[in-house]
Formats: sequence, structure tokens, C-alpha cells
Amino acid sequence: MLRISVLVSGGGTNLQAVIDSIETGRIRNAEVACIISSNPQAFALERGIKHGIKTFVIDKSQYPAMSLRTKAIISALKEEKTDLVVLAGYMSVLEPELIEAFRGKIINIHPSLIPKYCGKGFYGHHVHEAVIAAGEKESGATVHFVDEGVDTGPIIIQQKVPVLEGDTPDDLGARVLKIEHQILTEAINKVISGL
Ligand code: GRF
Repeated sequence: MLRISVLVSGGGTNLQAVIDSIETGRIRNAEVACIISSNPQAFALERGIKHGIKTFVIDKSQYPAMSLRTKAIISALKEEKTDLVVLAGYMSVLEPELIEAFRGKIINIHPSLIPKYCGKGFYGHHVHEAVIAAGEKESGATVHFVDEGVDTGPIIIQQKVPVLEGDTPDDLGARVLKIEHQILTEAINKVISGL
């Protein structure tokens, strides 16, 4: 069994997609080892608890220094015998020590067609606002390996969605999110077959 740990900060619909894919056999020979949240209020934690998955909150209030948060994350990941780390709406940049500890074994989902609309400042609704403001005709989602840059690692999978006339950022975000759920499962399967 390959052990996947998922890092989250928010609603956790991508986490839910991973859990569902494992439960329905779309992802095989894998289990969610643990969920680590940077936000104690994240609804993602409730999703994990509902499925009997171990959860950790590693946040600023307990560990004000980023380096201590990084150490706590690494030790939780190791304690849970993590083979693959999935960043699913994790709103914090990883320090090099963590990337080094799981080199080639960390993937992230981003709601744009990287290299467009990614990097510093491009997260959540900011991405979709910028896409619409630029008059783009298409957007999409990308799953990529994580390296020391922000959204710069090798792309595993990418899928497009149309930007429709009159779309609000929320409309576009919802369309992209649906695609995220699909390609995250596909990307995990691709990575598992390569590990
Ligand atoms: C997704 O759009 C993801 O790409 C981004 O944050 C959002 C998280 O959504 N990084 P959820 O918490 O998985 O519902």
C-alpha cells in the first residue's frame, strides 16, 4: 500500500476527490496516511475525520517560526510512513528542507494552465480574476511536481476548460475545480506507476 499524505488549508474538495478515488478503486494500492492542515478551521479536517484518517494541525499559533513548522511537518510525514505528499489547496510555500526530504515525491494542484497565472500572488480567486481580466478564452488546471520555486516543477498533467462569455471568477473557478478533481486522480495514478 502506497501511503499518501495530503496537505490542506481549506475546504478540501481535492482531498475528498482523492479519498473517493481510493474508496471506489480509481486509485489502487494506495491509502491516505494522514492529513496535515495549516489552518485549524479547515473543513478538510472534518472530511478526514469522517473517513477515519489521522489529522494534524501544524500552524503558526503552535509553531510561530516557519522552520519549526517545517520540522513538525517532516516528522509527521515520516511518522506516518509517507510515500507521496499531495498539496491540495495548501496555502503555504514549502521550505527547501521539506522538499529535500521528499524530493520527487511531492505534487501540487494549481488552478491555471502553468506557466500562465502561477507563482507569487496567483492563488485562489486571484488566478481566475486575472484570467478573466486578460480576456483569455481558456484556462484550466495543472498538477506538477514541487521543487524549490513557486509552481515551477515539472508538469505531470494539465487540462483545459473554456472561459465563457460573462463568466465571473467564481463561475470559472467552479469549472476549473471540477477538472482539478479529475486530473488529481489521474496524476496520482501516473506518479504511483513511476515510483
Ligand atoms: C484549488 O483550486 C487548488 O487548486 C488551489 O486551492 C483550491 C483548493 O480547493 N491550490 P479545495 O480545498 O481542494 O476545495
